Amino acid sequence: MAKVKTSYFCQNCGYQSPKWLGRCPSCGEWNTMVEEIIQKSEPEKGRWRPASAGPNIAARPKAITEIDYSEQPRVLTPDAELNRVLGGGIVPGSLVLIGGEPGIGKSTLMLQIALNLPGIRVLYVSGEESDQQIKMRAERLGTNSANCFILTETSTQNIFKQIENFEPDLLVIDSIQTLQSNLVESGAGSVSQVRECTAELMKFAKESGTPVFMIGHITKDGNLAGPKVLEHMVDTVLQFEGDRHLAYRILRTTKNRFGSTSELGIYEMQGSGLRQVSNPSEILISQREDALSGITIGTMLEGNRPLLIEIQSLVSIATYGTPQRSSTGFDAKRLNMLLAVLEKRGGFRLGAQDVFLNIAGGLKVEDPAIDLAVCASLVSSYEDIAIPASVCFAAEVGLGGEVRAVNRIENRIAEAEKLGFKEIWVSRYNAKGLDLDQYKIRVRTASKLDEVFISLLR
Ligand code: TYD
Ligand code: MG
Repeated sequence: MAKVKTSYFCQNCGYQSPKWLGRCPSCGEWNTMVEEIIQKSEPEKGRWRPASAGPNIAARPKAITEIDYSEQPRVLTPDAELNRVLGGGIVPGSLVLIGGEPGIGKSTLMLQIALNLPGIRVLYVSGEESDQQIKMRAERLGTNSANCFILTETSTQNIFKQIENFEPDLLVIDSIQTLQSNLVESGAGSVSQVRECTAELMKFAKESGTPVFMIGHITKDGNLAGPKVLEHMVDTVLQFEGDRHLAYRILRTTKNRFGSTSELGIYEMQGSGLRQVSNPSEILISQREDALSGITIGTMLEGNRPLLIEIQSLVSIATYGTPQRSSTGFDAKRLNMLLAVLEKRGGFRLGAQDVFLNIAGGLKVEDPAIDLAVCASLVSSYEDIAIPASVCFAAEVGLGGEVRAVNRIENRIAEAEKLGFKEIWVSRYNAKGLDLDQYKIRVRTASKLDEVFISLLR
């Protein structure tokens, strides 16, 4: 009997080593090496690549001018959020990975899409649930489609056999961690299995031109379970995230070979499936009648889309020695910087105050254009003077207390106007090239923080 060959794989990055190591030399993580059975398939003579490494085309170098290219038509789904996140619909032959924590709604999202694609034959392969369970979910979603076929199978060889007869237009795999290929002996979900199955699916997608969606689980620390190699292999990586206790779910692109990576789709999980939220600003701003101190509205861009978000802060005298600084959804270092600017340039005594900052709706904001809204929120809470609910902000704040210009200001102003705001504060430099009379909203300009506060906090 042939000796069983094993090798050690880092569960974090996929590094392979013949011996066990305490620390992965590739990614530096501790205790991630796990022994897996490998069965080397006989190397094919005279070939550089193993059979599973990608499309099997005898390639020769081509001049770039020789390559004829015509944009392949993308498949537009009825789900506008998904289309946007994919960069304008599903690209033929693409391999898309959807990652997310258990129970976040990945299966629901994929089934919902599979059921709502008129004229497209979808094969939904599930290794996690029985066909009855899937049918039950479909009943819950309240849609039915004669074009959606379910296959409960985990062996990739059997799946491909079915695909040969069936020829689907779209393949969904739920999930990649349950698949198993005969070519590799280790168990389902192990690094070498996940890698092999992904390679086989990639080959299928590229050779047949069929788009493939793969669902992948996420570990506790937010990484896709299985190696990072998985992310390198696929064309597009989407993350489905959100607080399980809140109804809102965010679909985010983290890698996309066919579009921008800063796109974002927002859904609401309802009793009958996921509903697209086409106007997210409405949910990100709480409906309130009276103005409260410490609450301001800022603008941020996610991809091409401007969003208005609510910033809440609470500034109060520290009762215990060292003042606390806590921020949710906003970079803590940036918060400290803005506090220092307010202290030094604005003369606000914030050093002895506890400061809590929160971005409503569970979003994480990196756009510096919310700086001014954050500063206004902090000062409003410190002075306990409310800023009218009809005012919003779109500017960055510099170390000298200057109000700086931000990109795509027209989009931001237009969004604020659309949502019925009466006044938006922007940098004077931003307003230079703008025709301010075209807006119904009053565009206020400032070049220093003081000008904003003098006007708003009297
Ligand atoms: P699911 O798609 O099974 O999550 P995942 O595949 O990411 O593990 O979704 C699970 C959750 O979604 C479950 O807690 C129930 C909830 N849900 C609804 O609230 N409404 C619905 O219509 C459906 C189908 C699920
Ligand atoms: Mg699932």
